[in-house]
Amino acid sequence: MSDLLQTAPRIQAIKGMTDILPKEVVYWQKFEDLWRKLMPLYGYEEIRFPIVEATGLFKRSIGEVTDIVEKEMFTFEDRDHESITLRPEGTAGCVRAGLEHGLLYRSTHRLWYMGPMFRYEKPQKGRYRQFHQVGIEAYGFQGPDLEAEQIFLMHRFWRWLGLENSITLQINSLGSKEGREKYRKILVEYFSKHREALDEDSLRRLQTNPLRILDSKNPQLSQIIQEAPKAFDYLNAEDKAHFELFQQLLREAGIAFTVNPCIVRGLDYYNRTVYEWVTPKLGAQNAVCAGGRYDSLVAQLGGEPMPAVGFALGIERVVLLLKEVAKETEAQLSLGLETDLYLIAVGSEAESKALIEAEKLRDQVPDLKILVNCGGGNFKGQFKRADKSGAKIALILGEDELKTGKFGVKFLREEKEQTTVDISAAGKFLNEYFRNK
Ligand code: HAM
Repeated sequence: MSDLLQTAPRIQAIKGMTDILPKEVVYWQKFEDLWRKLMPLYGYEEIRFPIVEATGLFKRSIGEVTDIVEKEMFTFEDRDHESITLRPEGTAGCVRAGLEHGLLYRSTHRLWYMGPMFRYEKPQKGRYRQFHQVGIEAYGFQGPDLEAEQIFLMHRFWRWLGLENSITLQINSLGSKEGREKYRKILVEYFSKHREALDEDSLRRLQTNPLRILDSKNPQLSQIIQEAPKAFDYLNAEDKAHFELFQQLLREAGIAFTVNPCIVRGLDYYNRTVYEWVTPKLGAQNAVCAGGRYDSLVAQLGGEPMPAVGFALGIERVVLLLKEVAKETEAQLSLGLETDLYLIAVGSEAESKALIEAEKLRDQVPDLKILVNCGGGNFKGQFKRADKSGAKIALILGEDELKTGKFGVKFLREEKEQTTVDISAAGKFLNEYFRNK
């Protein structure tokens, strides 16, 4: 057998990294289009930064003793023996880029980004090793009006997607750094008293990051966690006022929320407000969007102190939710991407002409989605394909049509007699037909 005929073994995608196929991509496009429409309405500008950064950036910002840094980073040595890491999130890279280009200096900025992130987690529904986030970060704003505005923005987006009844908002305040230190000691005391009941993970966190015990999903710990001292009992007067005003703004805007003292977040840079938008519809991976305030990160990464607040949402989880809701309501998400017109052509002369005429129609009828039947086939097979494409209309070009200079016109979605139209008048005909659709 010649080399050409031998089938080589297949190479599979890397575990936890998924392909997004055309049928699925339409959801992503819908999401991305709406997102790009939303951002300028609130004054956010897009920023793009690399997928790979120096490992130290993430260690210093996310925190050495977080799950992400301890267990989940894709870290490599490059050819110069520098340690580099595939970004596990966007906030650190956004601050790094902002500092490197002088954006984060005595001015305010509202930025957004979109793209792949990488975490070496155990893959399951809604949790992947390569996943995608969109995120927003606002710099230079001290007051809780900014947190509230980001919640309003997100609330609007849920409404645009028709997800407002599938998602609820949970908020908490971690207070300032000093208050958190005090709270941390009190938590260590409390959990030490329950040491025997703690699992291995929580025992380790007792030493390194006791706040994260509150985030444990182990049902055997739920009562101990529920009865644990609450962070907002240790807030100073300013932190309390900040949290109060934030809640008041949400109430005034009519946005429902619950205060959940167990929202502590898995990244160390937060202070004061933290929050998560959660859904009961995706099983264990219930957080769809999450964020909060992080006033010390800019200084921690070498800039002048500058307050900051932001969030990120997981696009895979939103897409799963969109599909889930579409299934429940049996309503098909109208993506508006279906083919409008299928061009049927039988015979080699007709095939070439169809390609050329399709180009003319694309010039004459803006936005018309045309599928030309490339690759031959008889009328029966081509009509089948036309039907499957979702097209509303088929134009037909065979030997007879070529002779008469007319397209056959078949209406695929309505009871209407087949007709003909002069090839030269097809653009006008289609313009009129689709204007009324
Ligand atoms: P995070 O909570 O780690 O926050 O991630 C935000 C969202 O990304 C999650 O709510 C979830 O929807 C999605 N996500 C996280 N990990 C995965 C995964 N393995 N597979 C699928 N989706 C995932 C941050 O990343 C912060 N940078 C958010 C932020 C921005 N805070 C301030 N500014």
